[in-house]
Amino acid sequence: MKKIDKKIIIAIDGGPGVGKSSVSDIIARDLGIVHIDTGAMFRGLSYYFIKNNIELTEENVIDNLPKINVVLKYDNNVTSVILNGEDITPYIRKEEVSKAASFVSKIKEVRKKLLDLQREMAKNQSVILDGQDIGTVVFPDADFKFFFTADIEKRAKKRTEDLIKKGENVTYESVKKALEQRELENKTRKEAPIKKADDAIEFDTTKYEKEQTAKIILDMILERIDKA
Ligand code: DC
Repeated sequence: MKKIDKKIIIAIDGGPGVGKSSVSDIIARDLGIVHIDTGAMFRGLSYYFIKNNIELTEENVIDNLPKINVVLKYDNNVTSVILNGEDITPYIRKEEVSKAASFVSKIKEVRKKLLDLQREMAKNQSVILDGQDIGTVVFPDADFKFFFTADIEKRAKKRTEDLIKKGENVTYESVKKALEQRELENKTRKEAPIKKADDAIEFDTTKYEKEQTAKIILDMILERIDKA
């Protein structure tokens, strides 16, 4: 583990399936800092509606927001998502949750609620956050900003394998289509769409395993810290 002695904020943004979360996990572990998976927060919030069988409409989402409490819990480098006291981690990567999360992420009130939480979590500690609007909206002054991209074929292949392992009945074609659809929704939403911050370093993860990407990004971070 590398020790850094000042508080830093690292932002990793990008579209769905580019490897933001798994790479952030490795970097967080190597630096001994907290990883805030903001996508998991959107997923956790959206799962409330699936669990309680509430139709996903903008009005329903806004009405129910005060009843929803999403917390990320950390135990031995493993992140759990807690929704109103219940650990829902095993459910949040399902396709229906991906779809629901993409829907709720368009709603201004949802973004405000989670943005406040994200800023609060980063108040007194070094963190790495992965998401879609970290470098542009949540922490425009982050110390390090990266924007990940990857070929759709690799993203769809990996996502299909992961979902099949979890017992979901999907095909490569259905997953690819859903990924493209979500990415389009995320890029064209009015509130905080996916966008590379002007001062973010763009990085294409297609050719690399997650450990290789993590090492390259970590080396860039440490080099800059050493020079400062
Ligand atoms: O990264 P992910 O697939 O776990 O994200 C799930 C959804 O959450 C994604 O469709 C859009 C939304 N999201 C967002 O709007 N802003 C973020 N910072 C992170 C995720």
